[in-house]
Amino acid sequence: MQTILSIDTSCDETSVAVTKGRKVISHIEYSQILLHKKWGGIVPSLARWAHKEKIGMVIEESLRRAARYGIGWDDISAVAVTCGPGLAIALEVGIEWAKKLAREKRKKLIAVNHLEGHLYSVFAQNSQGKPERESKFPYLGLIVSGGHTELVIFKKDLEYEIIGSTLDDAVGEALDKAAKMLGLGYPGGPVIERLAKEINNLDLYKFPRPMWKNQSLNFSFSGLKTSFLYFLRNLSEKEKMNKINYLASSFQEAAFDSILKKVKQAFKIYSLNRIVVGGGVSANMRLRLKLRKLAREISGEVIFPPYKYLCQDNAAMIGVVADLYYRRRWFVKDFSILERVPRAKIDKRYY
Ligand code: KG4
Ligand code: ZN
Repeated sequence: MQTILSIDTSCDETSVAVTKGRKVISHIEYSQILLHKKWGGIVPSLARWAHKEKIGMVIEESLRRAARYGIGWDDISAVAVTCGPGLAIALEVGIEWAKKLAREKRKKLIAVNHLEGHLYSVFAQNSQGKPERESKFPYLGLIVSGGHTELVIFKKDLEYEIIGSTLDDAVGEALDKAAKMLGLGYPGGPVIERLAKEINNLDLYKFPRPMWKNQSLNFSFSGLKTSFLYFLRNLSEKEKMNKINYLASSFQEAAFDSILKKVKQAFKIYSLNRIVVGGGVSANMRLRLKLRKLAREISGEVIFPPYKYLCQDNAAMIGVVADLYYRRRWFVKDFSILERVPRAKIDKRYY
């Protein structure tokens, strides 16, 4: 088992972790949410600036925490970094630092795919090795975040087949946009979840379920977003405010039902009954409940990241993947040609 220092600067979290196998020894993140909030979404140039400002400090703090477990640079055998997908100019900051550290400290450099990280977040453990969870391949893999809505067959370690993707917005992005239309600020997913819960997730308006009749396993949220927009246009500001819980909840139900439909289809087509789910939206209790119910119906199993911080972007999940890369000796040989790949698919490798 290798001790690895990992960096993720793919979006709006500057995150650094020290991991040992699947165990997360230390994890530090600096969230830029407050910085982007007033713009109603992520501003790439601001993200880059903030990553540059904070990353040195975040690395130091992560090492300081690891030192409490007696771990220092002498014990660390590699530096891992997210190379994509993500915001190009944000990814660059992490890559630059990872190269610098690997050179200075004479460590191996490992370039990790961020989406693999989201899937493996379900297998991350705390420093005591909890939860134990052993993998039982094959699984369906579902990534639901601000940038991605992807369905894959997770065949075995580090092997995936993409079977469905969003044709337009990611589900987190759709929730964020709906929240913005309701004047709820950024990020919208957690606020929508709270408002919906207050009225027991009632689905008053029954907005159209995207891709319901479509046989493919792809997702689409732009139609739902448009019908939501048109619906809101017919309401006065006062009506909108009075109905805000019902609007939020109905939107959330439509979005999640369409995800459930595709998961159900995929279970059937591929004769599977286990699924791992990662990404920011996997923190949502309503989505978790729906997926658990579905899994129960087919005597299957659904596995979520065991701790909340593992749902959103984080470097700990990158460390968990990097350990598997290390075992296969998938190292970056020529540091100078390693670059960010902002639109990388889950099966894109960089070494
Ligand atoms: O995984 P993540 O931190 O970043 C990306 O890789 O995109 O996901 C961020 C997304 C945002 O769209 C945010 O609204 C959504 O995850 N999100 C949630 C919840 N917490 C975060 N969506 C629904 N319910 C939540 N509790
Ligand atoms: Zn992500």
